[in-house]
Amino acid sequence: MSESRPAAVIVLAAGEGTRMKSRTPKMLHRLCGRSMLGHALAAAAHLQPERLIVVAGHGRDQVGAEVARLAPGALVVIQEEQRGTGHAVRMVTEAVGVIPGTVVVTYGDMPLLRGETLRQLVQAHHAAGNAVTVLSARVSDPSGYGRIVRDTSGAFTRIVEERDATPAERAIDEINSGCYAFGGPLLSDAIKQVTTDNAQGHEYLTDVVTILRGDRYAVAAVPAADPGEIQGINDRVQLAEARRIYNQRLLEHWMREGVTIVDPATTWVDAEVSMGQDAEIGPGTHLEGRTVIGAGARIGPGCVLTDTSVGENATVTCAVCRQADIGPGASVGPYAYLRPGTRIAGNAHIGTYVELKNSSVGRGSKVPHLSYVGDADIGEHVNVGAGTIFANYDGVAKHRTTIGDHVFIGSDTVLVAPLAVGDGAYTAAGSAITEDVPPGALGIARGRQHNSQEWAERNRAGTGSAEAAARARSAEKKGEPG
Ligand code: UD1
Ligand code: CA
Repeated sequence: MSESRPAAVIVLAAGEGTRMKSRTPKMLHRLCGRSMLGHALAAAAHLQPERLIVVAGHGRDQVGAEVARLAPGALVVIQEEQRGTGHAVRMVTEAVGVIPGTVVVTYGDMPLLRGETLRQLVQAHHAAGNAVTVLSARVSDPSGYGRIVRDTSGAFTRIVEERDATPAERAIDEINSGCYAFGGPLLSDAIKQVTTDNAQGHEYLTDVVTILRGDRYAVAAVPAADPGEIQGINDRVQLAEARRIYNQRLLEHWMREGVTIVDPATTWVDAEVSMGQDAEIGPGTHLEGRTVIGAGARIGPGCVLTDTSVGENATVTCAVCRQADIGPGASVGPYAYLRPGTRIAGNAHIGTYVELKNSSVGRGSKVPHLSYVGDADIGEHVNVGAGTIFANYDGVAKHRTTIGDHVFIGSDTVLVAPLAVGDGAYTAAGSAITEDVPPGALGIARGRQHNSQEWAERNRAGTGSAEAAARARSAEKKGEPG
């Protein structure tokens, strides 16, 4: 295993990506929860290289920050001017010196490339004892790519860029992916000999093949099993296409792991999402970030879950949840909004038009209808009536509310924080509770009702209301014993 570990992976990520027409560097555009660069770093990490090196140029500060965040041990080498892929690699060898062992070069804008494909490239490279092994691909439309030129015996001889190619060479359908495995010392030596004698006046990394072959070293090109993986991203149309393919790949993985995806076409998951057996994901659902779905849970239709964990057998319907924790057997929605810091314990129920923030709801408790719960800790087996508002903000600061176990909050209660409601307490419907309610007490805080008799007949004469009232009262009189 250690034999197949490369000494270094170099990720080229200095290019500008003008066709993205973006203020964000191309490599930082995202698909399935990761930047393109993040995907490249993940593929590189699969090889467990001794060192990881990223070449940055355009947007170097943002690119450097992303590398520091995702791969803190990686080295960022700056390429001041983008004078070609060979120049980029030369900046690395000049910065770090000769790298003993295998050096893999790959791109930061090739997010569909699998780590496993790179591993197979390294394996083929070692098995054949090559000086350089090029990952190639056979494609129906080779335009724009460097072509793999082979001699009459089929032996790989060189790579020619499209703009330097003859019409016969342009007809070749085997292309250079841009990923290579090199012998480190040979690479360091050959990269110094690369010239700018080509249509672009750039230093081409591809010329290293010609140089090494000229020195009678073994060179080879091995086609990728799935040519779709080497698709580079240059604009947002290609980005959307890559996102669809990557998403499809993730969904297929989860379906094969025993997850039901009802409608793959409208289900979107990020690379770091995980799901348990017999989870069922309904149409129009987005699972983002590090969301975890427990076994047997039913999510959707119409959910957006970000960095949220859902326990076994819970159900979440038409809900938006961010950094929330939903316990086993709990139910959420339809039409619920769980904001960061929401913790719903097992078998609790959050219903329709309910928003929670930075709050916990205990086991078996219910917040079924039309409520706002902010900065609250709700105990077990509590019923929060329809239209309850936890008034947590006084215009200056946020305050917490604590609700004990087996509490009954009447409908349309306003709980003005800071506040505590003891175990077994009740609040009367329509109350504005501003003081603590002791355990077992009924908190009532509302005006008493007064009925102004015959008001409609006096003040709304001739209306349907007045007539209906008159009929009801005369019927009442007839019914009275004479
Ligand atoms: C390159 C290859 C071509 C191959 C194609 C695959 C060369 C000379 N050509 O062509 O054979 O078919 O990739 O996509 O290598 N980069 C830098 N610094 C630079 C130039 C490029 O970091 O000075 C990075 C870019 O950010 C990009 C990658 O290298 O990630 C490829 O660069 P690009 O200009 O797209 O190469 P191509 O001309 O398409
Ligand atoms: Ca390219």
